[in-house]
Amino acid sequence: MGVKLGILGLGTVGTGTVQLLQDVVGRHPLLQKIEIYRVGVRSLDKPRAVELSTEILTTDLEAIVNDPAVDIVVEVMGGLEPARSLILQALKNGKHVVTANKAAIARFGAEIFTAANQAGVYVMLEAAVGGGIPVIQPLKQSLSVNRIHTVTGIVNGTTNYILTRMQTEGSNFSDVLADAQRLGYAEADPTADVDGLDAADKIAILASLGFGGRIHLEDVYCEGIRQVSKTDIAYAEKLGFVIKLLAIAKRHTSDNSQLSVRVHPTLVSKAHPLASINGVYNAILVEGEPIGQVMFFGPGAGAGATASAVSSDILNLAATLKTSTTNPNPLFTCGHDDYCEIAP
Ligand code: NAP
Ligand code: HSE
Repeated sequence: MGVKLGILGLGTVGTGTVQLLQDVVGRHPLLQKIEIYRVGVRSLDKPRAVELSTEILTTDLEAIVNDPAVDIVVEVMGGLEPARSLILQALKNGKHVVTANKAAIARFGAEIFTAANQAGVYVMLEAAVGGGIPVIQPLKQSLSVNRIHTVTGIVNGTTNYILTRMQTEGSNFSDVLADAQRLGYAEADPTADVDGLDAADKIAILASLGFGGRIHLEDVYCEGIRQVSKTDIAYAEKLGFVIKLLAIAKRHTSDNSQLSVRVHPTLVSKAHPLASINGVYNAILVEGEPIGQVMFFGPGAGAGATASAVSSDILNLAATLKTSTTNPNPLFTCGHDDYCEIAP
């Protein structure tokens, strides 16, 4: 018996995910057990970049989350509603959920994770912050013993792409924004990118993970890049700085009773590790004890990068489902001798 996916959304991320799952299916034994069973969209008339049979594509998203055959619901439709209700219904029905929806997680994360815990299922959200960068799992697991002091990130690909091109090419804000939309980096409503709201959602999620507890979005100071001019960028350059939209979460007391969480354009010294993160790339610098500094870096938006995170979440979930012949120690024992041999 295979693992059946019910995918909500077939836009930039949904299409990238379906393409990736279809492309790599022969390469990974577990992927052969994953079936793209239903895909929910708004319109059946839109041309699609992936081939799916007519019985897979549907506009009835509620039917997907209520279908007993579906094992994992992949929410890549975005927005707050109906995404929130569909995720909650899927969890109530005992389905695992993979989501890229930082807006929904930042606002309804407590409700969603409570529902998941009650149902005994997983919610995976690697794609929600940093596009293709693995940062959620490392922060939640591999760094969990550390006492985190600050999380500082460039966590929005669209605005970093815009600022980089304004700086390096002297491009106009609106022209570059149009390019970011064409390339699939921007949100359906790019206001969320440009005004820092998307970065605020992401730093709220990272801060919740890093410091434990819930961050209320209304407590996150948020200022976007609309007011940043080419003149500002040129003056910054002369003084040895670049302008970056930084998202910062910082502990002010030892007991976490005071955190500051904020998003704003920042003068970053050219010597700082975040100064050289350009284009659609994101980076998240985590500082804590005893680890010191750790930086996560990679493509922060776009179909391929985000599909990588979504698909890996799917694969990891599928590996936990009893339907798979899971190998608990896959490193060096995956069955592909050519991959696993250690060179002499
Ligand atoms: P998108 O291109 O706008 O695609 C949204 C998809 O969801 C479309 O297929 C749309 O159907 C469907 N949809 C939306 N509302 C619906 C509704 N009410 N009923 C039925 N179908 C609906 O968005 P995206 O860029 O793929 O982003 C999806 C999610 O991933 C968002 O939460 C976003 O924040 C997140 N994300 C995006 C990126 C990125 O680089 N783009 C990176 C990380 C995370 P139609 O095709 O029929 O219109
Ligand atoms: N619009 C988002 C960005 C997508 O530009 O970073 C990735 O979350």
